[in-house]
Amino acid sequence: MSSVWVNGEEVASYPDPAPEVSRGKPLRVTVVGEEILTRRCRPVGSDGEYAFGSPELSQLIDDMFTTMYVAEGVGLAANQVDVDLQLFVYDCPDDDGVRHVGHICNPELVELPAGERRLVEGDEGCLSVPGPYAEVHRPDRAMVRGFDKDGVPIVLEGGGYYARCLQHETDHLYGRLYIERLSGRAQKKVLKEMDSMAERIFEKRAARAEKLHA
Ligand code: NI
Repeated sequence: MSSVWVNGEEVASYPDPAPEVSRGKPLRVTVVGEEILTRRCRPVGSDGEYAFGSPELSQLIDDMFTTMYVAEGVGLAANQVDVDLQLFVYDCPDDDGVRHVGHICNPELVELPAGERRLVEGDEGCLSVPGPYAEVHRPDRAMVRGFDKDGVPIVLEGGGYYARCLQHETDHLYGRLYIERLSGRAQKKVLKEMDSMAERIFEKRAARAEKLHA
């Protein structure tokens, strides 16, 4: 029987789609060119808006799950829904078909020893660069330390496509998009493809959002 990992802990099963999806509402996804995608986000803290343990933070996580589901993504960072906060959600398989799902606040990428990772090329896309995919080099394993919504320390670790997701989403919270890791030529190609594909992608998301409440 295949297991599922939720917030870095192995569990026997977890609903698919995640229960967060039906609790949340879809939000607008920001697009490359918007300022909020270019700077480091504010950490989740013990007070203020979206504090640890607050209903606002729980609601935001639910809304981000719904948004990710509607947009058919495997990960989504808070600045991709126009919120300046170090938080991302994910629902992503690794290369062995094991599902990883959850959220993490204030994620920090842990540098793994060189012997425990190797650089691999893989296909990558981004909900804020709607449409195209491009090959990006990244380490094939990743470890991220952070906190759950109640402020409990968690560690997310994995390989393959899931490792790529963890790195991609953490990058977002530091104001970096995957296209900045491409050559100038490849970046131009991606942005050109986005221009011709975006409208159709937005229509598809709108149709999925509509179906959600049908
Ligand atoms: Ni992205």
